[in-house]
Amino acid sequence: MPINTNNQTKQNLISKDRAYVWHHLTQHSAFDNSDPLIIVEAEGMQLKDAHGNIILDATSGGLWTVNVGYGREQIAKAIAKQLTSMPFFAGYGGTKPGAEYAEALLKRMPGMGRVYFSSSGSEANEKAFKIVRQLSHKKYAGKKNKIIYRERDYHGTTIATLSATGQFERKNQYGPFVPDFVEMPHCCEYRCQYEDSDNYGVDSANELKKIILKEGEENIGAVILEPITAGGGIIPAPDGYWQRIQSICRQYNVLLIIDEVVCGLGRTGKWFGYQHYDIEPDIVTMAKGVASGYAAISCTVTTEAIFEEFKQGNSKRMDYFRDVSTFGGCTAGPTAALQCLRILEEEKLLENASTIGDYLMTRLVELKSKHEIIGDVRGKGLLAGLELVEDRQSKTPVDESVIIKVAAHCLKNGVLIGRTNRSFKEFNNTIALCPALIATTQDIDIIVAAIDTAISEL
Ligand SMILES: Cc1ncc(COP(=O)(O)O)c(C=O)c1O
Repeated sequence: MPINTNNQTKQNLISKDRAYVWHHLTQHSAFDNSDPLIIVEAEGMQLKDAHGNIILDATSGGLWTVNVGYGREQIAKAIAKQLTSMPFFAGYGGTKPGAEYAEALLKRMPGMGRVYFSSSGSEANEKAFKIVRQLSHKKYAGKKNKIIYRERDYHGTTIATLSATGQFERKNQYGPFVPDFVEMPHCCEYRCQYEDSDNYGVDSANELKKIILKEGEENIGAVILEPITAGGGIIPAPDGYWQRIQSICRQYNVLLIIDEVVCGLGRTGKWFGYQHYDIEPDIVTMAKGVASGYAAISCTVTTEAIFEEFKQGNSKRMDYFRDVSTFGGCTAGPTAALQCLRILEEEKLLENASTIGDYLMTRLVELKSKHEIIGDVRGKGLLAGLELVEDRQSKTPVDESVIIKVAAHCLKNGVLIGRTNRSFKEFNNTIALCPALIATTQDIDIIVAAIDTAISEL
């Protein structure tokens, strides 16, 4: 990772950023007394900031994205070659990498039939919602238009995807929201809502049925769920949950949309998070790991049956999917995505996510036995969370300021970790770990040691 930025250049860069850039999820008054974090180079899982500090990245680029790690020349070269030959053509036509990637992706998603390209996770979910809403008009005379989402899940930053997001603080001040999105309760067993439940998986899944019956099955078109709630606190569903969700969807003719924006493409040790649970979604959305951040690409993948709904009725002018995504036509996305698939397979990174993920979980459970403040450890593959509490008995969540301090301490010691970030009234108390799928046991040891030291010293 060669870097030869001199002092002057560094200061210039920092002042330009401070003066002109509006960072996401950031209260900028923080930069009155400290410098913004500016990453100038990266290799593998290591970042170099503008001051020359080396940081081990346990977040895959700050937002669960760079799954194959930094510095992949083969991706950069493939993109450069494709861009010089044909950079863009709108999605009403096709492109070579687009067709090749769609075929390669569908091979890894038995049961799914079509890929619709766009450029962000929010956009991929918007397409899914538009499919549901249009089917409501085409097939159900405007009924079956409501979409259920789950408390604690996140589905994006646009007004419609925020309307489908179960995080109070993330949504706060951005309303009014889009009508006909309905919330169902979360499935976090550590925060069990029932006085007593001997089958939490089934009980929490039955909440879906209760909402369907309350709203009327004739009004519910779809439910959207993350396979493992990510930004909402790393919440894998309890045993039995997914089978019950699937059977409720079938019983009431409700489409199952799975948001794989974080879990997709190997993060949990399988190609997709839902594939751990033996379920058959109708629509799957994905973004971040698709091209690992080397290009912007997202996909809304549907069954062939859904696609066919939009092909029928050719005589009616309005009956096809009249959606457009300008940057869904960029060829850099599917080109990078094809290379990512190759890397994931050649380097056996799904297997690595699984085995190193197990190692991470073992180390975190050890950490929990050492520190009372860790109330719960959760996750799957290389996606893990530590929920911090004031005491284990009451499970009172620590204040958000506590995990901010833990994260800042880790960063000072050269490790970047993630955390729930101003999402809930009280549950901004989970540390989130999401290292690249190339992580080794040594990387995990460094990450766990940084958290251990931070908790001990604070
Ligand atoms: C589960 C999930 N869905 C959707 C999104 C939105 O993706 P994007 O930020 O690319 O619009 C995110 C972003 O973090 C996410 O975590």
